[in-house]
Amino acid sequence: MIYRNHNLGELRKNNIGEKVILSGWVATKRDLGGLTFVDLRDREGITQIVFDTDVASQEVVDKAQKLKTESVIRIEGEVRERYSKNVNIPTGEIEVFATSIDILNSCDTLPFQMTDEGLSENIRLKYRYLDLRREQMINNLKKRHRMIMSIRNYMDEKGFLDVDTPLLTKSTPEGARDFLVPSRTNGGQFYALPQSPQLFKQLLMIAGVEKYFQIAKCFRDEDLRADRQPEFTQLDIEMSFVELEDVITEIEGLAKRVFKQVTGQEANYDFPRMEWKDAMDRFGSDKPDTRFGVELKDISEIVANCGFKAFSSTIADGGIVKAIVAPQVADKFSRKILDDYQEYVKRYFGAKGLAYIKLTKGGINSPIAKFLTEEEMKAIIEKVEANEGDVILIVADKVKVVRAALGALRLRIGKELNLYDKNEFKFLWVVHFPMFEYDDEEQRYKAEHHPFTSIMEEDMPRFFEGDMDIRTNTYDLVLNGNEIGGGSIRIHNPQVQEKVFEKLGLTQEQAREKFGFFIDAFKYGAPPHGGLAFGIDRWLMVMLGENSIRDVIPFPKTNKGQCLMTEAPNIVEKEQLDELFIVSTFKEEK
Ligand code: AMO
Ligand code: AMP
Repeated sequence: MIYRNHNLGELRKNNIGEKVILSGWVATKRDLGGLTFVDLRDREGITQIVFDTDVASQEVVDKAQKLKTESVIRIEGEVRERYSKNVNIPTGEIEVFATSIDILNSCDTLPFQMTDEGLSENIRLKYRYLDLRREQMINNLKKRHRMIMSIRNYMDEKGFLDVDTPLLTKSTPEGARDFLVPSRTNGGQFYALPQSPQLFKQLLMIAGVEKYFQIAKCFRDEDLRADRQPEFTQLDIEMSFVELEDVITEIEGLAKRVFKQVTGQEANYDFPRMEWKDAMDRFGSDKPDTRFGVELKDISEIVANCGFKAFSSTIADGGIVKAIVAPQVADKFSRKILDDYQEYVKRYFGAKGLAYIKLTKGGINSPIAKFLTEEEMKAIIEKVEANEGDVILIVADKVKVVRAALGALRLRIGKELNLYDKNEFKFLWVVHFPMFEYDDEEQRYKAEHHPFTSIMEEDMPRFFEGDMDIRTNTYDLVLNGNEIGGGSIRIHNPQVQEKVFEKLGLTQEQAREKFGFFIDAFKYGAPPHGGLAFGIDRWLMVMLGENSIRDVIPFPKTNKGQCLMTEAPNIVEKEQLDELFIVSTFKEEK
C-alpha cells in the first residue's frame, strides 16, 4: 500500500497523537548517534521525521541511516510535539516518529546539490525535473496555475467562449519569422506554426462567436532575450461590437483580478493612459517604466545655433538634442562611470556621443561648457530643471537614436541609483500607436502593430490623402516598463483594408496570396471588433519579480532555442527528410 493520508505541509499541533502515513522526498538527513532526523518534502512543504530506536525497530533505524537525499520514501508513524520548535515552517511545531519505512525509489548521486544557490542555468535546464522540485520553482508553477485559473474564471463570468484554433496553419501577420512544418502529404509545401491566433480570432468574430478567449501557444522565430521565448503562451481575446473604451474597461477588470490573485496586492485605481507619442517623447520608450521620473527634455531650441558643432549641425540635419537629469550624483559620477555610459549609448544604440554637465558645489564641470554661452547654459539648466548636485546627460542625434539611447540610459540610471521601489507595481496603458513604421534597413514602411489595425477617425482624411503619419486604435498594457499585453480595434471596412495593403506596398495579388481567405470573409457580414493578447509568461515574470521568463515556464528553451533536457532540436534520419522532400545543405562549421 502506498496510500498517504497527509501532505507534508499540513500537520499541526492538533494532529498530535495521530498515526499517519507520509510519502515524499528526502530533503535532508541528519544522524545523531541513535537518532536520525529526516526532512521529508513534497510540493506542499516539509515535515520532520524522527527515527529513534525507542520507537522503531533497529532495522528501520538502520535503513533511515543509509538514506540518500532525494530518495522517495513512505513512512508510518505517530505525530508528536516537536522537541525544538522551528518557527520558520508551518509544520514546525510537530515531528513524526516513524515506526516503519519503505524506500520506494532510491536516488543516485545527484548532478548538483539541491540547496546550491549559485547553480548554472544550463545544469538546471538539463535536469529541469530536479530544478522544479526546488521551492522557488514549484511556487512559480503554483502561481502560474493560480493565474490561469483566475483568468478562466473571469472570462467565463464575463461570457467569453474558450475556442481553440489550429497549430498547423498558415503564416500569420505578427511580423516575426515563422517556424515552418513540412507537409509529407503535400510535397514541397509547409505549414507555419502560429505567431498568434490573430486571423482565426477575427474569423471567429465573423462567425458570430462575439466574445472569444483562448490560452494559446504562440511561436516566433526571433532573437531571444530575458523576456522572450520562441514558444510562449498568450491569453488571447477578441470581442465584437466594441470600441477602444469597451475593451480597455473589460481588460482592466481582468488585469486587476489576476494581479490580486498572483501578488495578493490590490490595484484599485484607473490605469493611467498615455499617448504613444508622449511616451516616446517623455520616456524614449513605448513601454515606459513610470515608477520614477528622469524624463527626457528637449533642448533643441536652446542649442540650435550654439557653438558646439555636434549639437547645431545635428539640428540643422533634422535631428534633435535631448537631455536627462541624474539626480544628486555630481560627486559620484566619476570620469570612468561617464565613459562607461557613453560607451553604452554608442555601442548599443548607435549614438554619436554622450555629453554631460555636472552641477557641482564649486560650479559647472562639463567638456562642452567652453562651446556654450552663459545664457545657453543657464537656459539648459532651467529647461531640464536641474539642481546643484545633479548631472545632465545629453544626446544629439536622429530622433530614433536619441529616444532609444536616452530611454535605455534612463532605465539604467533608475536601476543603478535605486530611484524606485522594486516591490511597487505600476500599470499604464499606452494608446494610439502609429499605423506605419519606417524600416531603415529594408527601406520600406511596415505595420507597427499588424495590417488589420483600425485607424483613428480623426486621422482618416489624412490617411486617404496619402499621409503616412497616422494614429491607430491601439493599446498596450505596460507593467513596470514591460509590455505585458497589446491589441487593437480592427479594420472591418474593406476599402480601408485595401488602402492599408497598398500603403504597405502589397499589391492586390500579394495581399490575396497571403490573406485571401481572410479578406474574402469580410465580404460576408463582419461585425466591428477588437481585442488584445497578454503574454502570460512575461506578465507572470514581472508580477513575481523574476529576472528571466525561463523561471516561470516549466520547460523553457535557451537563448539559442534549445531544450537542454530533451536535446531538441536534433538531427533526424535521412529517410525522414526524404519523406518530406527536404535536402539538407547544412554543413557544420569546423
Ligand atoms: P503582440 O505581438 O503584441 O500581439 O503579442 C502580445 C503579447 O505577447 C507577449 N509576447 C511574448 N512573450 C514571450 N516571448 C515572445 N517571443 C513574445 N512575443 C510577444 C508580449 C506581448 O505584449 N495578435 C496580437 C494581439 C492582438 O492584436 O490582439 C499579438 O500577438 O507580452
Ligand atoms: P568631441 O568634440 O567629439 O570630442 O566631443 C566632446 C564631447 O561631446 C564628448 O563628451 C562627446 O561624447 C560629446 N558628444 C559628441 N557628439 C555628441 C552628440 N551627438 N551628442 C551628445 N554628445 C556628443
